[in-house]
Amino acid sequence: MRKLMVRMVNRMKTENDWNTILNECRKAVQKKISPLLKEITEPQSDYGIGAGGDPIKKVDLEAETAIINTIKESNISFTLISEESGIIEIGKKPKENYIVVDPIDGSTNFSRRLPFYATSIAVSNDQTLGGIHTALVSDLARNHTYIANKKHGAYKNGERIEPSEIEFFENAIIGVDLNTNQLKTLKSLTKVLTMIQHLRHFGANALELCFVADGTLDAFIDIRGKLRITDLAAAFLIVKESGAKISTSDETFLTDKTLFKKRIALIAAGNSKIYSQLIRALPNYTKDI
Ligand code: IPD
Ligand code: CA
Repeated sequence: MRKLMVRMVNRMKTENDWNTILNECRKAVQKKISPLLKEITEPQSDYGIGAGGDPIKKVDLEAETAIINTIKESNISFTLISEESGIIEIGKKPKENYIVVDPIDGSTNFSRRLPFYATSIAVSNDQTLGGIHTALVSDLARNHTYIANKKHGAYKNGERIEPSEIEFFENAIIGVDLNTNQLKTLKSLTKVLTMIQHLRHFGANALELCFVADGTLDAFIDIRGKLRITDLAAAFLIVKESGAKISTSDETFLTDKTLFKKRIALIAAGNSKIYSQLIRALPNYTKDI
């Protein structure tokens, strides 16, 4: 693998090259975290506060180091935008590639052995969400890997995925992030909560968005205005490439210095019909943030 990665240095990276690199990152993360999972016998201590503002767990640091070291092996210059370390420039031309990482999405689940956590990595040519050309989200507990390349569709374990065609709330399973103590947000959700028949929240938003991409969920909403760019960058492309709908309350530059202070709300849905009903039931979706 090392030789293959080094051979890539002298030529432009193709989609396949990036897919290979991100897959190697996934394997490196998996290798690092498996022993940690076996060690968990009690709640994990914190290792300070990450750039994203949340307490860092050992698993977050191990996964982040595994990703950085794997990308470094390929001799690529890049700007890393990570939930834990923030913005780091690596190599001589760091502005050639922007790599947006949430080393572990669902760290709290991991720390209690709840089998729902993922690694999330997106590669962009520039500083915008729109510049993301390759994305990987991997469900590390079940070994399901979602990959998307811009304009080339989204895949789960190599098979093309498509979102749900369910258009009515009666039959729909809708993910809602209720992880908030903000009464204002809960009030804004009142109408939609009375419409939903089957509500779910699993605790790792990148993976829940991939569930919209592959039709496991019919929609996912998080209007708390708490998500960071690192939480959603990879899943954003995967959802779009699957053909599902996704909108965010803010799509500004990825490397804005205020990036980690910026918080985003989002709505994703399998099709326009269910998306429009959600938007109608959430009139304060963007204004509230
Ligand atoms: C968290 C998860 C969770 C969401 C939190 C996120 P993290 O990500 O996605 O579902 O409710 O807001 O912070 O912190 O485990 O990477
Ligand atoms: Ca995280």
